[in-house]
Amino acid sequence: MNFSPSLLESLRAATKIVALTGAGISAESGMATFREAQTGLWSKFRPEELATAEAFRRERKFVQDWYTWRRQNAVNAKPNAGHLALVEIEKRAPEFLLVTQNVDGLHQRAGSKQLVELHGNIHRFRCFENDCASDNFDVENGRCRSCGGHLRPGVVWFGEMLPIDALETAISAAEQCDVFFSIGTSSVVYPAADLWRRAKDSGSVIIEINKDPTPLTPLADYSFLGNAGEILPQLVAAI
Ligand code: APR
Repeated sequence: MNFSPSLLESLRAATKIVALTGAGISAESGMATFREAQTGLWSKFRPEELATAEAFRRERKFVQDWYTWRRQNAVNAKPNAGHLALVEIEKRAPEFLLVTQNVDGLHQRAGSKQLVELHGNIHRFRCFENDCASDNFDVENGRCRSCGGHLRPGVVWFGEMLPIDALETAISAAEQCDVFFSIGTSSVVYPAADLWRRAKDSGSVIIEINKDPTPLTPLADYSFLGNAGEILPQLVAAI
């Protein structure tokens, strides 16, 4: 793959790099994305029936089983060349932050360190009724030992606020970076989908890597349509 000299120069000169990732970076690890036609989770399941507090109140077992199934998929999956390429960029960049919308934990397993999870993590749990401290959970029985409440997955559901520390860290990093990557995300879910604009407004170079075109594609400085697990390692090798 050929990369323009100006792109390579921007990456070599960058002191602060931010990479935003979505479900697409885990697709080559066998994880389903959300919005891809036919294959995406939301083409098979209705988010309002599974990824909301209301759904948990209404159909707790159904929701818990669905997350158990997704959690097992994440455990069985392995980080791919795309995840590993980001670890390499983190090692080389003077400053780097990985902002992920993914809850699968594959970035951590690949070795990423400078990481914020905007939508939580499926391997963590929360007490649904009282949000009790997480050190007293009976995960096997899905119960909180502190209050007897039910355990819910430690992810952000539709209609819920993002973890404020993670969001503020992501926003300030985006506003200070030289290069901003948007990788494997449809760029339609906010506030994550707004981060590139904050970076752009601060003069950052925007690089998109995605299998399909997104609303960001015509606005990015560089947009590569294809598999992140193929393009990212080539880009790292070219820097
Ligand atoms: N390499 C790069 N991009 C890919 C690949 C791949 N191998 N496979 C799929 N893609 C792209 C698709 O073209 C799609 O545009 O990844 C994108 C995934 O988009 P979504 O399924 O919408 O996932 P994401 O952007 O992460 O969703 C954001 O929405 O449902 C909520 O909380 C959930 O975090 C999620 C958020």
